[in-house]
Amino acid sequence: MKISFANPAAPTKGTAVVLCSEGGKWSKTAATLDAKLKGALKRAAKASGFEGKKNQTMIVLAPGGSSLDRVLCLGLGKPAEITPESVVEAGGTMFAAIGTVAGPVTVHADDIDKSNLKAADIAANLGYGATLRSYVFEKYKTKKADDKKTPLDALAIVCDGAAAARTSFGHLSKIADGVKFTRDLVSEPANVLYPKEFAQRLKKDLTKVGVKVTILGEKEMRKLGMGSLLSVGNGSSHESQMVVMEWNGLPASKKKNSKPISFIGKGVCFDTGGISLKPAASMEDMKWDMGGAGVVSGLMKALAGRKAKCHVVSAVGLVENMPDGNATRPGDIVKSMSGQTIEILNTDAEGRLVLCDVLHYVNTKYKPDFMVDLATLTGAIIVALGNERAGLFANDDKLAERIHAVGETIGERVWRLPLGEEYNKDLNTDAADMKNIGSGRGAGSITAAQFLQRFVGDTPWVHLDIAGVTWSKKDTTLVPRGGTAFGVRLLERFVADHYG
Ligand code: BES
Ligand code: MN
Ligand code: ZN
Repeated sequence: MKISFANPAAPTKGTAVVLCSEGGKWSKTAATLDAKLKGALKRAAKASGFEGKKNQTMIVLAPGGSSLDRVLCLGLGKPAEITPESVVEAGGTMFAAIGTVAGPVTVHADDIDKSNLKAADIAANLGYGATLRSYVFEKYKTKKADDKKTPLDALAIVCDGAAAARTSFGHLSKIADGVKFTRDLVSEPANVLYPKEFAQRLKKDLTKVGVKVTILGEKEMRKLGMGSLLSVGNGSSHESQMVVMEWNGLPASKKKNSKPISFIGKGVCFDTGGISLKPAASMEDMKWDMGGAGVVSGLMKALAGRKAKCHVVSAVGLVENMPDGNATRPGDIVKSMSGQTIEILNTDAEGRLVLCDVLHYVNTKYKPDFMVDLATLTGAIIVALGNERAGLFANDDKLAERIHAVGETIGERVWRLPLGEEYNKDLNTDAADMKNIGSGRGAGSITAAQFLQRFVGDTPWVHLDIAGVTWSKKDTTLVPRGGTAFGVRLLERFVADHYG
């Protein structure tokens, strides 16, 4: 969607969006327009119960006394409670309320009485929220809807300080670009987005924004001793890949010998379960079992796009988990790059087999300040937290608390679950150093995290189990149904707040 900013002008044609706060006065444009319409807006508000509450909307069609098609009154809530984040949400609400259009849409972003935010901040954040909500994935639709109205694809936002709004939106739009990149990757079907194709897209798209992209194929990974990751792709006709992405935005004086921060993603391009085959129902969901890798990729795009002043080395393990004559069998024993051996008792617990080699590789090669991994790792996390929060596991309280706090602020929420020796010992087995599943049926997300912890050494580490939040079956304020890109905005802000 095209977003443009200009200085204030009176509403004249098409759809006018005006802002209202709760309990306070309406915005200047809303009040002036209401007077011109002889009180039609206030009367409509009274008749419909519109009070300017947060994310409340009211549409007045073809009001007499003007040539406007529609007036959309957008509630921002109580002035003292308006934050950049609440305005982002209002932007998403606005986009959804506008729906399809026949003419131009102009948003009148005025200062709100008794709010700390300036008109330009409101304008930029409304544009950001609308952009996030406007995502569609329709490249495989060959027929367009037969409708005189079209989906909103351009938004003119007018406000005092339009230049400042433009600058501030320029920054936010880089984050939105990262979110879009992730959503595109997650939405692609697995016949199109197999490991090599995924790697090539990273090379093409991220190189453009200044990320150094290195692709390792099976030959290189075998040399490194990544027997665990490689075992997952044994049954697939597609070659497994590992992609390392490096962004160094530090000033030259600090560039040398800087310890990077690091993000690692599970990229199972399709997870059939392997020989421990999954049931048919909903197996199609497993096209988004590369969601962790998708988030890491979008995060790199956002950080490089906004030229973050930090050093980041990220990596994704890209594989396809299929059954065939070469596939790993339950009971097989493999050797990970760390030297630890793994008895694979369930080939459907494959994500940890991929991550353990990538974590070890990044940890030993780059000695990062910390590692955060993201993975659609367990169905059990959906049992525990549903589709509302991601599970967080950590060996470092400060990292855990920081990520949790950002989540509360921007609305990508996480909840910490425990780690401990009592769970860890459940991975012990007679035949090898560990097995890839726990013994019982309980605490499946925790044993998965325990497995990963065996490969991170003393490096501060957070594991985010995003199985419940990577795909949404319903529209929410900022996320149309489909791939959510949960984690991109969370970790972008986490980096911005603490690393630059
Ligand atoms: N990719 C799945 C987890 C998953 C399930 C993600 C549902 C998204 C939605 C993972 O590879 C898996 O199959 N995990 C198993 C682990 C079990 C075999 C220990 C699970 O959760 O059942
Ligand atoms: Mn699986
Ligand atoms: Zn999986």
